[in-house]
Amino acid sequence: NTLITEILSTPAATTEEVERFRITYLGTKNVLKPLMGEIRTIPNERKREFGQLVNRAKEVAQQRYNDLQRAVQQEQSEQQGSSLDLTAPAEPLPLGSRHPIALTMRRIISIFERIGFTVAEGPEIEDDWHNFSAMNTPEDHPARDMQDTFYVAAGMPAGPDHTAMLLRTHTSSVQARTMESQAPPIRIIAPGRVYRNETISARSHAQFHQVEGLYIAEGVSFADMKATLLHFAREMYGADTKIRLRPSYFPFTEPSAEMDIWWGLETKHDHRITKGTGWLEIMGCGMVDPQVLTNCGIDPERYTGYAFGMGIERQAMLLYNITDIRLMFENDVRFLRQFASVL
Ligand code: PHE
Repeated sequence: NTLITEILSTPAATTEEVERFRITYLGTKNVLKPLMGEIRTIPNERKREFGQLVNRAKEVAQQRYNDLQRAVQQEQSEQQGSSLDLTAPAEPLPLGSRHPIALTMRRIISIFERIGFTVAEGPEIEDDWHNFSAMNTPEDHPARDMQDTFYVAAGMPAGPDHTAMLLRTHTSSVQARTMESQAPPIRIIAPGRVYRNETISARSHAQFHQVEGLYIAEGVSFADMKATLLHFAREMYGADTKIRLRPSYFPFTEPSAEMDIWWGLETKHDHRITKGTGWLEIMGCGMVDPQVLTNCGIDPERYTGYAFGMGIERQAMLLYNITDIRLMFENDVRFLRQFASVL
């Protein structure tokens, strides 16, 4: 009984003291063990009572150990709680930034989405048919020289109808895919990456981005195209932006044009720092050639349409005053971080 009182009154306020308590009363060499050995020396009629007492002492020790341990843990967590300053400013979270190409692309997409265009996509590894032949540029057509093409090595799987596979040279391939799979009216834009075998310099790269546009319906005219592109230019570069359409040539449009915007002191734009004035070419466009409609299963007697394709890098460089296109593909964080505040 004195042992039980001792167990109950042993103080233990720290982790170390609680551990010492455990070793004394519950460990492999605890003080209760020898008592069980002594049972031999106890008179028979009291053996039972003695055994019960020792067992009771064991239980009490275990119980007391549990209580002490709980008390110490609680005290510790309370101390931690009081040292936690809930008014302290949070650790800063390192956030990434959007890439200038993505920023420019998003602006262009949202302008066209607001006037009813939807986004379409196609593969970057394309077959010859969708990139060239369907777009009225057959194999022996001299216009193929306009775009130096990366062909996928011979021996790689060929496209449908055994046409060659290549890295698409323009997003116009998505025009062909969309016309094959949808019936007019069609009103899509197709943003994406394209590839050309060009020498890499500050002004041109072997990979770049375009946004394609295609509108096919009954009675679509060149004037519709011009009004839409003027609207785009003004949304993109400011309400008094001027545009100019120059006659041009593409195998898949007739008539074809290139569109310039006037980049001058009066061009109001939030990010405008770029010096210099003049006409700047930003896209090719034109009325979809009837042969292209036929190639893609659309009746050219009933439908007409316009198409355009614009480069993204050039516009991003204008908007953000970037002087070397290679910066766009190097992923140098010192370059990328400068766009952290642009949404
Ligand atoms: N695909 C042409 C190019 O990459 C651009 C274009 C698209 C021109 C659609 C006319 C119509 O240069």
